[in-house]
Amino acid sequence: MGGSASTIAPGATIGILGGGQLGRMIAQAAARLGYRCHIYCPETDSPAAQVASRHTIGGLEDETRLREFAAAVDVVTYEFENIPAGPVEILAEIVPVRPNARALRVAQDRMEEKRFAATLGIATAPWLPVRSEAEAQAAIATIGRPAMLKTARLGYDGKGQVKIGAGEDATAAWRGLGGAPCVLEGFVDFAMEISVIVARGLDGAMLAYPAVENRHKNGILDVTIAPADLAPAIAAAARDAALRLTQALDIVGLLAVEMFVARDGGVLVNEMAPRPHNSGHWTLDACATSQFEQLVRAICGLKLGGVDVLCPAIMQNLIGAEVEHWRAAIEDPRAKLHLYGKTAARPGRKMGHVTRLLRP
Ligand SMILES: Nc1ncnc2c1ncn2[C@@H]1O[C@H](COP(=O)(O)OP(=O)(O)O)[C@@H](O)[C@H]1O
Ligand SMILES: [Mg+2]
Repeated sequence: MGGSASTIAPGATIGILGGGQLGRMIAQAAARLGYRCHIYCPETDSPAAQVASRHTIGGLEDETRLREFAAAVDVVTYEFENIPAGPVEILAEIVPVRPNARALRVAQDRMEEKRFAATLGIATAPWLPVRSEAEAQAAIATIGRPAMLKTARLGYDGKGQVKIGAGEDATAAWRGLGGAPCVLEGFVDFAMEISVIVARGLDGAMLAYPAVENRHKNGILDVTIAPADLAPAIAAAARDAALRLTQALDIVGLLAVEMFVARDGGVLVNEMAPRPHNSGHWTLDACATSQFEQLVRAICGLKLGGVDVLCPAIMQNLIGAEVEHWRAAIEDPRAKLHLYGKTAARPGRKMGHVTRLLRP
């Protein structure tokens, strides 16, 4: 279909590591632009494979399958960041992996993430590493209570973290998390939680979606309000931090940056993910280009799409048994329903979401 030498044109095949709802929505956006998707994941029936043209069932340790997968696709992306360096290196020998391996390495470890932000002069909550009982004691003495103890790796949806309140013992909390390497963070009495998603193309062009407000329930995202109702200076600071992190990590694709807005208006980076993000699902229905299409454009070397907000919106996750709300959503003329094709509605499982368009 023409374009520059580095363009991966429609008709090509995008490989996606991971079979969850993010992979599903990447595949749906890719299909709309005429791409095929090939999913690589261990599950036999996955949300992503249900809507993709090819599926390899394999684990990240299966070098032979990984090589076959890489040879069958034109570019590889991923829908989760906990991918070890080994498999990424194997794939990257054969096919471009976007975003790059360094972005993965930084984003999958809370210590690396916070150190990286610090190198750019970007603020985070005060924190200290906890890798021993002695460090747990020292960290709580310095950081104070309340504090959040989080495993450095593999945490998501509030898993792998515990709040340490007045009178609570940091050593016991650390043992409770299995004695894994952790970070102890000061508890932020935030005014609002927000996130900014930045897209960066192969040519280095960047576009940021507006900051959105995120409300969590039991450590899991419940509602996203797009855009967030922020003072312009705070919105600008959040955007600036997200753009600088994206540039410094040399992202080709998306970087989602979660932040706290402190009561004094300061912006603190909490964590980041080099992939589509739950807080960007509203873009499917209320923005000129969805985060998923934007990812496809970026990794295929196409020009990024516009990020104009078409309509303010509220995204509500359907977690576990809340999936039954689909019946009400279907009846609501302003609701856009997305279900992920998961059969078992286990507690805490993301089953779908509803975006409500807030027309005046
Ligand atoms: N230092 C903190 N202060 C206050 N609240 C926090 C802090 N760290 C985490 N939280 C709360 O817990 C949620 C989940 O924590 P987060 O670090 O984003 O981990 P993950 O999303 O990977 O589970 C946050 O969105 C926030 O609501
Ligand atoms: Mg988070």
